[in-house]
Amino acid sequence: MILLDGNHTSSVIRKEIQVKVTQFCQNDVRSPHLAAVLIGDNPASQTYVRNKIRACEEVGYASTLIRKPATITQEELLYIIKSLNDDPQIDGYIVQLPLPRHIDEHAINLAINPEKDVDGFHPYNFGKMALGLPSFHPATPMGIMMLLDRYQIETDGKHCVVLGRSNIVGTPIALLMSKKTKPGNATVTIAHSRTNQLKEICQRADIIIAALGIPMFVKSDMVREGAVVVDVGINKMDDPGSARGYRLVGDVDFPNVAPKTFAITPVPGGVGPMTITALIENTWKAFYKKW
Ligand code: GUN
Repeated sequence: MILLDGNHTSSVIRKEIQVKVTQFCQNDVRSPHLAAVLIGDNPASQTYVRNKIRACEEVGYASTLIRKPATITQEELLYIIKSLNDDPQIDGYIVQLPLPRHIDEHAINLAINPEKDVDGFHPYNFGKMALGLPSFHPATPMGIMMLLDRYQIETDGKHCVVLGRSNIVGTPIALLMSKKTKPGNATVTIAHSRTNQLKEICQRADIIIAALGIPMFVKSDMVREGAVVVDVGINKMDDPGSARGYRLVGDVDFPNVAPKTFAITPVPGGVGPMTITALIENTWKAFYKKW
């Protein structure tokens, strides 16, 4: 069984980017600059944003964190977005999701300048991705594609079952896996909470991408011998025995599923770090287009 190591792959790719930054950003050329907007105090969002800022430092980017309370109005958030759009020093930025319920996520996405939309959530970028045109791809699916690519996992003609249909992961990874690309060219089934005979569908998968947000949902009797399993889930499980009182588990029952697979991502240390590396790659693209 091959462990698809997102920590190792990320550090290799980040070093490659760091080399490009050092070579390119000398004399009068400033470094790439990513901004992150964090609303409220959702603990998971705080961790993700902290890791994104840390990754910027690792590769030599400048970064800016804009933190506002959950009571922010939509107008105030739109004003922040306008100032980021207008700021020539900012190459790309993200608005960390989820947003408080009183804020219209779609309106926020629409306000982001597509050229700075390094999350790839603006309909312009999402549409271009669906058409197979160059654009920013959402970070998690892009990170998965980078991981499959680096490990040379064969996807051509394979049956890929995507569990979950979110805008952030399920829908875009299904699109990317079905495109005539390498990796890609797969036959894709999108399954979700309303899917009948889910177990049987999973049993017919060469590749399973689990992005449901349900801890250890994928059990060993759902997985064919020799399948490739990509686990996007990051769930906290009570664990009185550990120092923090919890441990992180994915959407896959890793201990029982892993021995059956050809390759599998661990949680943590699989898709998570790749997501951030994809964001770093997108920020490089947003920056480099200008020079
Ligand atoms: N929340 C969960 N994943 C993501 C992501 O990739 N980008 C943003 N902005 N928010 C998220």
